[in-house]
Amino acid sequence: MKLRLCAPCHFGLEGPVGAELRRMGFANVTGENGRVLFDGDPAGIAKANVGLACAERVMILAARFRAETFTELFDGVRAVRWEDFLPRDAAFIVVGHTVSSKLFSERSCQSIIKKAVAERLKEAYHTSWMPETGARYTLRFHLLKDETSVYLDTTGDGLHKRGYRAVAGDAPISETLAAAIADFAHFDGSRPLYDPFCGSGTLLIEAAFRATHRAPGLYRNFAGERYAFLPPALWKEAREAAEARILDIPLELYGSDIDPKMVLRTEENARLARVRGVSVRRIDVHDFTPDPGVLITNPPYGERLLDADAAAELCRTLGRRTEGCPDLDRYVVTCDEEFERNFGRKATKRRKIYNGMIKSCLYMYFDEKRIERKREQARENKSK
Ligand SMILES: C[S@@+](CC[C@H](N)C(=O)[O-])C[C@H]1O[C@@H](n2cnc3c(N)ncnc32)[C@H](O)[C@@H]1O
Repeated sequence: MKLRLCAPCHFGLEGPVGAELRRMGFANVTGENGRVLFDGDPAGIAKANVGLACAERVMILAARFRAETFTELFDGVRAVRWEDFLPRDAAFIVVGHTVSSKLFSERSCQSIIKKAVAERLKEAYHTSWMPETGARYTLRFHLLKDETSVYLDTTGDGLHKRGYRAVAGDAPISETLAAAIADFAHFDGSRPLYDPFCGSGTLLIEAAFRATHRAPGLYRNFAGERYAFLPPALWKEAREAAEARILDIPLELYGSDIDPKMVLRTEENARLARVRGVSVRRIDVHDFTPDPGVLITNPPYGERLLDADAAAELCRTLGRRTEGCPDLDRYVVTCDEEFERNFGRKATKRRKIYNGMIKSCLYMYFDEKRIERKREQARENKSK
């Protein structure tokens, strides 16, 4: 069964998601705003769910068409071979959004889509009613400027829910964004990693996943596991293949935070994530002294944790504490637009990203030659 699949993601992460999909062997990978489309099949759905680090979910693109009227919406949805995916007793819900479209009422679109799918299934199964007593399927729709996309979700709880962050800090970074930052940093575990504002430890854990080739979804379940056309054997194979890829390499991951509760939380989350090599201490950033390596961090900013002046002062301190360190690449994600001035240095490179709905920027300070060598090494390993 050849399918067109879609991996939605935070705005700004289309590049890393596309790169992940290509590394996993998927073809025809194309990025759009906040989503990446790719070709796949049922086995690919299991593989993508288990393995993707930076995407939010994996969906089947069931149909894409223009709809300016409810009749066009109904006809477009009814034309899909839903019986290939949903069994006779499927219980299904429809959720979605409309943006800048003539069909602006989400509730009305929802009920039209539900009705069109039910009509299609009744005809296919030669029945006058759908009992909806079986497994639950989730359909998602998105109308953007009258262009309608209808998807079957295979993930359920978003992919950022890895299962290790039972308790988060007050302002945790999303796991998928943390994974993308580790990717931008090319973190491969060959040098120590520091996070002096570690909170719940997300950046350390996601960087460890990247370095050890750990599939982030290895130890969680997905909605698609209930779907009849995605049998258990596919998920088992995807998990076994992911297990076989894990690298057993020693890691040095140093987390610190001023709050002793966060120290315990990072330790607990690393344990739940089955990540080894994490050492966490209670340290005020004023006393932070890193050795050569990589620093990836997310300082407190403004409204959520501190007032803006105090947050700016912490960035000044971070700048001073890391200033003279030779061979320390630095990656700082923040929504502080004055960050470079506070930190005291212009970034080698900047990248706009979203932490949930919050517009942020990743400021990168690195040795360009070293990163180029890492890229070359990755290309060589791939061609071997
Ligand atoms: C934005 S949160 C980091 C969130 C983290 N990335 C996560 O995923 O949970 C900032 C953290 O900085 C810590 N912090 C605040 N002031 C600090 C200081 N002076 N020194 C070290 N850590 C500090 C807070 O306790 C908080 O956990």
